[in-house]
Amino acid sequence: MELKNLISDGDKVQVYECDGKCVKLFKDPKEPKSVVMYEAITHVRVEETGYAKIPELLEITRVDGRYAIVYEFCEGKTLEQVMREDPSRCDEYLGQMADIQVEINELTSAKVSRLKDYLNRSIDGLDMIDDVKKYELLTHLNKMPQHTKLCHGDLSPDNIIVGKKGTFVIDWMKAKQGNASADVARTYLNFCLKHHTEWAETYLKKYCQKTGIDVKYIREWVPIVAGALLKFKRPEERELLLAWIDMADLH
Ligand SMILES: Nc1ncnc2c1ncn2[C@@H]1O[C@H](COP(=O)(O)OP(=O)(O)O)[C@@H](O)[C@H]1O
Ligand SMILES: [Mg+2]
Repeated sequence: MELKNLISDGDKVQVYECDGKCVKLFKDPKEPKSVVMYEAITHVRVEETGYAKIPELLEITRVDGRYAIVYEFCEGKTLEQVMREDPSRCDEYLGQMADIQVEINELTSAKVSRLKDYLNRSIDGLDMIDDVKKYELLTHLNKMPQHTKLCHGDLSPDNIIVGKKGTFVIDWMKAKQGNASADVARTYLNFCLKHHTEWAETYLKKYCQKTGIDVKYIREWVPIVAGALLKFKRPEERELLLAWIDMADLH
């Protein structure tokens, strides 16, 4: 397979358009096979829910010794591009994104991993917060209601593609089953970490208006999700994430 049209060059993967297909190439030749297979199986499990807005996984292959997952190519622009090109309509786009969030959280998949387990493991393994804080976060997490809703795990405008054939949601690697409010808190934090605080608040407001969920339930998840995000040790996120944890009332 010859890879020519590079669409995206991220930390871990490059994405190419190739003969009308999307090839997601893992950059590290030593990428564990389990990571690649985990992304694939998680994606397929979401496909099996019957969700219409997910591209089909076509194959797993190797290109020059590196793993690649081949997906159906979604024509269009990412919602991030669309928002950048027409900022005056951002409120409307954030509303559309909240609709997608609601749609996803209405689905269930008994086979995808549990969000609560993932959050517990992520916080438990942290070395940049003290044991008291860690204990408070874990206690807070374990008091939260355990749901089994499908959560995307990283819903953000760059993981949504809008085109003539419709809207698609991609990048399901972090999909889990759990509490939808945690999924919304993750999207909220994604916006905050990119310094789009205004969008974060608008998104929250729109989601709560659409679902009737009290914003306080989502805010309760923010320190927990912030804690879990610390495990990625991204220097540019550290200060903000620690502030979200410190500001929280965990009692
Ligand atoms: N199936 C697809 N069809 C079209 N473009 C895609 C597809 N999958 C990914 N892309 C493009 O590649 C970018 C990165 O892909 P993504 O799976 O989100 O990887 P990551 O965010 O981990 O780098 C997306 O934002 C989008 O522009
Ligand atoms: Mg992505």
